[in-house]
Amino acid sequence: MKVHVFDTKEKLYDEVSNYYIERLNKNPNLNLGLATGTTPIPLYDRLIEAYKKGLVSFKGVKAFNLDEYLGLEKNHHQSYYYFMRNQLFNHIDINQNNCFIPSGDNPDHETAKKEYQELLKQNQVDIQLLGIGSNGHIGFNEPNTPFDTKTHVVKLDEKTRIDNSRLFNSLDEVPTHAITMGISEIMNAKEIIVIATGSNKKDAVYEMIKGNISENVPASVLQRHPNVTVYIDKDAASRL
Ligand code: PGA
Repeated sequence: MKVHVFDTKEKLYDEVSNYYIERLNKNPNLNLGLATGTTPIPLYDRLIEAYKKGLVSFKGVKAFNLDEYLGLEKNHHQSYYYFMRNQLFNHIDINQNNCFIPSGDNPDHETAKKEYQELLKQNQVDIQLLGIGSNGHIGFNEPNTPFDTKTHVVKLDEKTRIDNSRLFNSLDEVPTHAITMGISEIMNAKEIIVIATGSNKKDAVYEMIKGNISENVPASVLQRHPNVTVYIDKDAASRL
C-alpha cells in the first residue's frame, strides 16, 4: 500500500486528478470504478475543469459505481444516480449508456444484485476509487461483511445513516438499506485509489493501513491488494 500525505486538500486533489488525466490520456478506454459521498467531489470538479479545457476526454470510458440506496427514485436528489449525473456525468463527454450504478429502485433486489454481479464479471475495473466511512466501510460494505461477498443488499449501520443524514432533511429520511458492490468485486480491480480527509476519518485510516486485517474493518482488506494508493490529508493521517 502506498500512502501519500498532503499538507492541504488542494494539493491532494490536484495530484489525484493529474493522475487520472495522465492515465486516461494513455488509455482512453479505462473502466473506472467511481464513488459517491463528499470525498470525491473536488476530484470530479477538477476532472470537469480539465475536460472543459480539452485536457482529457471520457468518450471511451465505462463507469461502474460502488453503491446505491434502496428505495429512492432515480431522480431523488440524494440518490447516487442523481449525484453522479449532477456532480460529473452531465458535465463531461462520457456516454451515459456506459455509466452503471446498482439499481436501488428495482423492487426485485435479487435481479438487481445478479445483474450488477454479471456486469462486473464481464468488465474488470481498471482503477477503483474509494472513500472510507468513519466506521471503516468501503462502498456500503459495513463492518463484519465477509470479504468474499459480491454485490449484495445491506442494512446500513446506524453510524453510516447518522454520517449521511447531513444530506437529508432528517435522520428518518435516510434509507435503511442499500445495494453495494461486494468486497471481492472491489478487490478484483486492477488498481485502487483511496482518498480520505478530515480528522473524523483518522481512526478508520489508521485501521486500514496499520490495523489487523479483519472483517470488523472492511477497509483493512485493502492491505491484501497488490496495487493500492492512499491519498490523505494531515488530519486523516494524524494517528499514523
Ligand atoms: P464521505 O463518505 O465521502 O461522504 O465521507 C465516504 C464513505 O462513506 O465511503
